[in-house]
Amino acid sequence: MPNSTQNPAPDALLQLVQPNQFVGWLGTADYTRALVLTSDVWKTRAKGVPHNCFLLAAADGGTAVEEIMLLRVSGSAEVPADAELQVKLDKLKSRAPAGGGGQTVEEFQFGLLQCRVLGTFYLQDGKLRLGSDVENFAQAAGLAVYRPEGAALAAIVNYISPSRAAAAEEEARRLGLKGELPRFPIGTVRYSSTDRLHRGAGAERAVFHLNAVDFLARRTAVFGMTRTGKSNTVKKLVSVVKHTSDDFKLRIGQIIYDLNGEYANANQQDQGSIAEVFPADTIRYRMVPTTGFELILNNFFQQISEGHSTLRGLLEASKLPRSADLEAFLSMDFVPPNKEDCSSDYEFQRQTSLFQLKLAAYQAVLARAGYELPPGFKITFEVNPGIRNKINPSVDPANGLTASQAYEWFYLVRQIQDELITTSGASWIEPDTNVLINLLLQKNDQGGYIPGFRLLQPFKDYHAPNRSTDVCDEIYNHLAAGKIVILDLSVGDPVQRERLGKRIARHIFRSSMATFNRGQYPPHVVVYVEEAHNIIGRNEPLTEIWPTIAKEGAKARIAVVYATQEVSTIHPNILANTENIIVSHLNNHNEISELAKYYDFGDFAESMIRAQDVGFARVKTLSNPFVIPVQIDKFDPEKEKLRVTGGK
Ligand SMILES: Nc1ncnc2c1ncn2[C@@H]1O[C@H](COP(=O)(O)OP(=O)(O)O)[C@@H](O)[C@H]1O
Ligand SMILES: [Mg+2]
Repeated sequence: MPNSTQNPAPDALLQLVQPNQFVGWLGTADYTRALVLTSDVWKTRAKGVPHNCFLLAAADGGTAVEEIMLLRVSGSAEVPADAELQVKLDKLKSRAPAGGGGQTVEEFQFGLLQCRVLGTFYLQDGKLRLGSDVENFAQAAGLAVYRPEGAALAAIVNYISPSRAAAAEEEARRLGLKGELPRFPIGTVRYSSTDRLHRGAGAERAVFHLNAVDFLARRTAVFGMTRTGKSNTVKKLVSVVKHTSDDFKLRIGQIIYDLNGEYANANQQDQGSIAEVFPADTIRYRMVPTTGFELILNNFFQQISEGHSTLRGLLEASKLPRSADLEAFLSMDFVPPNKEDCSSDYEFQRQTSLFQLKLAAYQAVLARAGYELPPGFKITFEVNPGIRNKINPSVDPANGLTASQAYEWFYLVRQIQDELITTSGASWIEPDTNVLINLLLQKNDQGGYIPGFRLLQPFKDYHAPNRSTDVCDEIYNHLAAGKIVILDLSVGDPVQRERLGKRIARHIFRSSMATFNRGQYPPHVVVYVEEAHNIIGRNEPLTEIWPTIAKEGAKARIAVVYATQEVSTIHPNILANTENIIVSHLNNHNEISELAKYYDFGDFAESMIRAQDVGFARVKTLSNPFVIPVQIDKFDPEKEKLRVTGGK
């Protein structure tokens, strides 16, 4: 048998050959398929040959191997009808591998394995390369076949092409790291549900890594039925990305759209949560006030446009009858006047004071509807003395008004509105301001009753009176600082949840694109979307934020990881742009056939339907030209905590 320790300079290729793992001889091969002759004795010695396992076919007994074929067992095979081939196989039966075993042919139970040809390993400039086909199979018959495990298997499943490695190095240099980008260990190779032999005592497991270069700024899908380990996979990813980025001093912001509240809280099912493991680096948000959580919501008195657009969304969704005033309220905006757009300084000042008045009227409406004013906040705006004295000489709004003072002041404005318009030229009260006064006083232009501010009352809980910055800015800053942000969306209104989810995603994307467009590198951000079918619609137009991130996220350095049980609910453009796919058990052929369109998932169709083992996943990454079956590590909060505190 070839023995790598006798080889003076064991090369990367030769190291793949593990003589103890000999399982048989290659009978025939062509470009796509191969037939392997094996025996029960050889199989047992190699700790089994499970369905879908990798095999390597190499010249036997040599110290210099030029190339090695990579195969995957796709099933067993009948003895071929071809007489010539039968003779060849019979000859192989009596051939013992170099230096191997003393059994006689009679003791062997022979059998044939059907394999798929995955590619060829060879050396170029001393580096291991994997071609995704075979160049020449004429010499293939008679090659020794091994089932790689441990280090050799790890080399196969973690193979990264020289060009991808170069890209990883370049990105690392940009980020100021030495060497390559890191890799994230997420599990170990597992071929079949029954894993007594190939992962049992004495078997060397192979750790599978997700390359940062494959993962960062890319799309990763996590598919599988409920309770087959999708959330566990996401948790594992979050924690391994966090640990690795800490070790490498590489900042990666992570944000989780947590629809079930399982990342923010310890729940009964799974002891421990991401928030508990990384208390110093995790910020939790919710739509309703809760201790230990920041409010996702905005302060409507300060983030005026944000607040107004939230109200617009809620009002539109509530399907109230549309009065003229409500229509006008919905189509308003609160964009301050721009100096460049004004013909003179005087005009700019005039527009600014009109805008201030409109803002004040809006704030008065909110206050009247019961929206709590922020602590110490008063409705404040300047009014020129001539007009002010006409309205109420004893009140100057520049000193700030309380909610009731503002109401009274606008009430007085309305009494003399006609007079004010004629004395000050036609435009002291703009149409929008007029509408807002209507809403405040519950009277339309004809003097008839309207519900006015009452329409806004049901949405009071969306206003966060104690917040001083836009929640989106705040979240983005956390991400840029490499923190973990958990959006606990398990409580609150589903419509608002989807809207908010989009708004935050849009903000992250726009902020990062703006950095990119300035010629700088945006921070690395990973967005995890749990139960993605609730957040990312299949029928969304391409211009919507999620398909946009999927298409252009790479420039903005935004990675998206989405988890769902339904492959078919995912937007086709997002699926087509997904570089990494992790699938556990699926229970129906439609979903499987959707997936079988991609790469070689078809090879695993049967096993994905049959094997329901939790965390047993088939993984296709950008770097790997084929699917790798992996048992995802369990996210173990206790172990993780020890790592964070340095206890190990
Ligand atoms: N790789 C794994 N190894 C061991 N247990 C796991 C693994 N993945 C998940 N589990 C356990 O299985 C249960 C369901 O996992 P979960 O990740 O919540 O599934 P899903 O999100 O697909 O519904 C949880 O109790 C979890 O701890
Ligand atoms: Mg889940």
